[in-house]
Amino acid sequence: MQLKTIWLTDFRSYETLELPLETGLTAIVGPNGRGKTNVLEAIGLLSTLKSFRGAPTESLVRRGAQSAFVRAEGVRDDREVLIELELTKGRTRAQVNRQRLKRSSDLLGALRTTVFAPDDLALVKQGPSVRREYLDDVLVALDPKNDALLREVDKIIRQRNALLRQSHGRLDEAGLSTLDVWDQKLGVAGAKLTTLREDLVVTILPMLHDAYALLAGAPESVTADYERSWQTETLADALASQRDNDVRRGITSVGPHRDELALRLAGLLTRTEASQGEQRTLALALRLAGHQLTTKVLGEPPLLLLDDVLSELDPDRATALLNNLPPGQVVITSASALPPAAKPDRVLNFTDPSTQTITLVDEPGDLTVAEGVVEDTVEVSSDV
Ligand SMILES: Nc1ncnc2c1ncn2[C@@H]1O[C@H](COP(=O)(O)OP(=O)(O)OP(=O)(O)O)[C@@H](O)[C@H]1O
Ligand SMILES: [Mg+2]
Repeated sequence: MQLKTIWLTDFRSYETLELPLETGLTAIVGPNGRGKTNVLEAIGLLSTLKSFRGAPTESLVRRGAQSAFVRAEGVRDDREVLIELELTKGRTRAQVNRQRLKRSSDLLGALRTTVFAPDDLALVKQGPSVRREYLDDVLVALDPKNDALLREVDKIIRQRNALLRQSHGRLDEAGLSTLDVWDQKLGVAGAKLTTLREDLVVTILPMLHDAYALLAGAPESVTADYERSWQTETLADALASQRDNDVRRGITSVGPHRDELALRLAGLLTRTEASQGEQRTLALALRLAGHQLTTKVLGEPPLLLLDDVLSELDPDRATALLNNLPPGQVVITSASALPPAAKPDRVLNFTDPSTQTITLVDEPGDLTVAEGVVEDTVEVSSDV
């Protein structure tokens, strides 16, 4: 989907804002704290209902306001698409083309985005959970149905853990038969998720390698190895052999929630042995590889959101990125002037809010995320 216009009402720092987006590269340039990332965050919300900064809904609503509205108009297959969100404390309501969404996952296919943000350094630097989440995000981008599998696995593990914790190290017969049920379910769904992730890693590795080489200007060897948390043939076997241990410790010690994606540059683990710049480059390469694969599989590029990416890279790497931006719609933010390699189709200059490129709408009534319309929608998520 191609986004044409986005409107914000009482979102973060904005009372009202109307922004046009180009079909190619739109650059948002302005000083620190001017609200550039806020705009990308709003676009990301339209895609996933989640803040890529991990912010709770209440911090997305402008201080002093009750609700925030994010609305965007775009085109898909020559047809107009309208996505509307209302964010209230602890609640998000959404509709597409004025149709209520029954489940939050219904939104996942409407607008796809790839986000690179400064926090993505964590992808390489932090513990295994961020890398598992990266793989899972790509799986959902490739097929929204995978979201249901992720939720199922998560639910099984939470319920299994709750049972183990409540047992205080001893399970009676009823408890053991409930544990049998969770193990049987996790053996199937968990193994399915691990296989999906393993296949994804094999598919994405050449793209990761190319993206890294392009940014670094050298064909460094990048490897990505999916490491299972169990060694037995099946997850069901591993759960059985770990059962006593799990009951004693009150946790689930094997399963997709304990797996790791080990990333190496020239044979060295990037988490502990790469330089900060190499880690940043690899984090960006991971995002670009996911973007490339999603584009290839879906036949249409997601909207690429690059937050502050230029300040993260040395001039050569920044130039390499700008000269090789993937096809499709891209929005980039920058706190300093764009380098010559950037050839934006439009620059939205946030330095002076009165410039013509940013339309600050005075009349909130112009933004027809009318309350009556939004109130008509069902609540799609209570925890976003
Ligand atoms: N709920 C809110 N209500 C009002 N203002 C908010 C809210 N949340 C954030 N802000 C304001 O938004 C501003 C930050 O916006 P943003 O992060 O988009 O800046 P930026 O232009 O990306 O800056 P940088 O270049 O430093 O990344 C801050 O000044 C902050 O006070
Ligand atoms: Mg920012």
